Amino acid sequence: MKLFHVDASAKREWSNSRALSRHFIDLLKAHKPELEVDYLDVSVDTPAHVDELFTIATYTPEAQRTPAMQQALEASDALCARLLAADAYVFAMPMYNFSMPSSFKAFIDNIVRTNLTYKIGEDGSYVGKMADKALFITTRGADLRPGKPLGGMDALTPALRAAFGFLGVAAPTFVDAQPLTFSAAEEREAALVRAKTELAAIAGRWVGT
Ligand SMILES: Cc1cc2nc3c(=O)[nH]c(=O)nc-3n(C[C@H](O)[C@H](O)[C@H](O)COP(=O)(O)O)c2cc1C
Repeated sequence: MKLFHVDASAKREWSNSRALSRHFIDLLKAHKPELEVDYLDVSVDTPAHVDELFTIATYTPEAQRTPAMQQALEASDALCARLLAADAYVFAMPMYNFSMPSSFKAFIDNIVRTNLTYKIGEDGSYVGKMADKALFITTRGADLRPGKPLGGMDALTPALRAAFGFLGVAAPTFVDAQPLTFSAAEEREAALVRAKTELAAIAGRWVGT
């Protein structure tokens, strides 16, 4: 298994999403020490925002791209290659203002590429090229689980499902740790325990124990 692990929290030392994704990788490595991990921290190596040349280049057939267009797509090409080289993914991020960190959105904008990470079939259907093995670890300050007062305001999960579903991740796994900030200490502790219990079960499935 070759894993692509992406963290996106702006926090370094005290980030819960980073701690949980590291915990999950450690669980996998305990069973598979040979596990190959490609790591990207998009809060440090933030992919560029889409600019005008990128928008033109990405929809210009490869053979017709000018050197400037090729250059505009170079970093995105490299990210797509890393994505396609993996057969499993761990994406960890906090919820920011009900959706994803902008660094992770920039990552998505760089990896959704026609004829690279998805193809359009002759019948007009879209075929994603990612492996269908992805874990999303999200951390939230509030509790947005169904039935809670903010339960209807989770714009993060549907956005991730749509973008990665388009790229071929038909059955993603989500571990959403919440509430981690705006609650009593016992609730925060319970949320982390819940998340770690879920991660242990998923790690077991991934390594086949
Ligand atoms: C800019 C910003 C926006 C946030 N927006 C939300 C939000 O919309 N909903 C929420 O539940 N928590 C929100 N939070 C809280 C974080 O999601 C929460 O603290 C999370 O655990 C942070 O994860 P991290 O420790 O990996 O950085 C926000 C935090 C920041 C810094």
